[in-house]
Amino acid sequence: MRPMRLSVNVDHVATLRNARGGSFPCPVEAARTVMEAGADGVTVHLREDRRHIRDRDLERISAEVPARLNFEMAATEEMIGIALRLRPPACCIVPEKRQELTTEGGLDVIRAGAPLAEAVQRLAGAGIEVSIFVEADAAQIEACKRIGAQAIELHTGAYADAAPDDRPQHVARLKAGAEAAAAHGLLCHVGHGLSYETVGAVAAFPEVEEASIGHFLIGQSVFEGLPAVVRRFKALIAQARVG
Ligand code: PXP
Repeated sequence: MRPMRLSVNVDHVATLRNARGGSFPCPVEAARTVMEAGADGVTVHLREDRRHIRDRDLERISAEVPARLNFEMAATEEMIGIALRLRPPACCIVPEKRQELTTEGGLDVIRAGAPLAEAVQRLAGAGIEVSIFVEADAAQIEACKRIGAQAIELHTGAYADAAPDDRPQHVARLKAGAEAAAAHGLLCHVGHGLSYETVGAVAAFPEVEEASIGHFLIGQSVFEGLPAVVRRFKALIAQARVG
């Protein structure tokens, strides 16, 4: 099976920094550290309210860290402008609500219609690999293909939050989503809520090219250290890929 990338979301290093209003801990330094520990990329979500990552963090990671940068963004004019200026290798379009604690669900690509299609075309036209964060729903995945996305990121939140006994049904649903993506020629990523316990089942899908992991990974690094947690995730992924 092809290897799968681990993209580390460093948003919550910024959350911690912002709690004290200073410059420590620095998400740029965290991005460097995870890459040195063997991560394959870095993800940041610049939210409209700048609650964690700020513009300068994104600019510095883009310019200074040798990482495949995945820019998570809402499809707003402001964020599209930033993406077109920085031209990261990849972006992931997500729904964004001001009051939510984190991205709550996949994007409704069918409802979003022409404005989303136009955003995808502008980003892809600038050479950015565009993925869309969606639920494992056949019609939504088909719509991603129709509007010109190159990739989808399957929302793994419900699976990751489910009780262990309920997980198999979520794994089956996500597997069908990964297969649908491949059938449409879309690259398939996964993300949201993944932990040591839950990453293996989705990393075992041969269609999956990348997992984007943040909250658990940054939280666990309090106990184990960031490089050790990255190495453990890489090992769990590698183990899942050999079967
Ligand atoms: N993928 C997307 C699209 C997200 O919005 C998030 C959360 O920012 C993640 C992955 C990472 O989720 P978590 O922080 O729960 O690992």
